[in-house]
Amino acid sequence: MTPSNAAASGRFVLGDIEIHRLGFGAMRIAGKGVWGEPADRSEALRTLRRLPELGVNFIDTADSYGPFVSEELIAEALHPYSGLLIATKGGLTRHGPDIWAPLGRPEYLRQCVLMSLRRLKIDRIDLWQLHRIDPKVPRDEQFGVIKDMQKEGLIRHAGLSEVGVEDIGAAQKFFPVVSVQNRFNLVDRASEDVLDHCAKAGIGFIPWFPLAAGALAKPGSILDSIAKSKGATPSQIALAWVLKRSPVMLPIPGTGSVKHLEENVAAASISLTNEEFRTLDEQGRAAAN
Ligand SMILES: NC(=O)c1ccc[n+]([C@@H]2O[C@H](COP(=O)([O-])OP(=O)(O)OC[C@H]3O[C@@H](n4cnc5c(N)ncnc54)[C@H](OP(=O)(O)O)[C@@H]3O)[C@@H](O)[C@H]2O)c1
Repeated sequence: MTPSNAAASGRFVLGDIEIHRLGFGAMRIAGKGVWGEPADRSEALRTLRRLPELGVNFIDTADSYGPFVSEELIAEALHPYSGLLIATKGGLTRHGPDIWAPLGRPEYLRQCVLMSLRRLKIDRIDLWQLHRIDPKVPRDEQFGVIKDMQKEGLIRHAGLSEVGVEDIGAAQKFFPVVSVQNRFNLVDRASEDVLDHCAKAGIGFIPWFPLAAGALAKPGSILDSIAKSKGATPSQIALAWVLKRSPVMLPIPGTGSVKHLEENVAAASISLTNEEFRTLDEQGRAAAN
């Protein structure tokens, strides 16, 4: 059997870099609470090394995953990243498992970028994303330093995370926003307006938590029956639905296991009929309310 390949998800040009739409989220290769080393370090490295073999050429990470562990493992497994786009983020501080606090002072954002460069062993970050706009710091100061770092060549492209349409417009006055990373899945549609805006503007939309299907995944549900009819799992169908939702959609399912990675990549080859898509769309929308 030919192994599945992320190329089946289609292509997207982020800034000036072409990627396969189905990417990988590297948050789950850190320890519990996204804190410290992963429970199985060798499996995390194996998972990362399997990515290029499966055609996954877009990897999302952040300095705060671990903190630092995710970027360090990526460098250990994949440097010098031939044909891979490594996207990282900065602007969140860590004080313990599951604790995250934004810090958007320009000098700190600059330190985030400089230290990510060092850990990833590169001299320019292809895509750097502001993890959160810090509400305690004027957003223009945060956008301003991103613009400066892009001019200095430390960052090739810049993106935002957990933002509204209005924030995107405000940031565009400083730099071209090539991606937006917001929580989005079959049963969490709060960012639908942002997704539609990104589609119109040709901005990549990176849905995090893309595998979630909540109660829709329960036995006997429509998601479950579509999954069974295709010999797939409910999460694979949830991912196939996300991919079909928009051509700017760039999902980054995360895992620390090769088996789960292979399953997620296989979802790129599952095609839903328009009717299946619409039924799931309606049920997901209803479940979200
Ligand atoms: N911008 C932000 O604020 C933000 C926030 C959160 C996440 N993110 C990014 O988005 C990525 C994805 O988000 P996420 O990790 O929250 O959600 P997700 O990818 O939808 O789900 C990950 C969870 O599902 C499990 N899983 C993965 N593949 C599976 C499979 N085939 N079968 C069964 N279970 C599976 C993983 O556990 P196993 O490890 O056991 O497989 C993990 O618990 C992250 O890696 C990160 O890069 C961004």
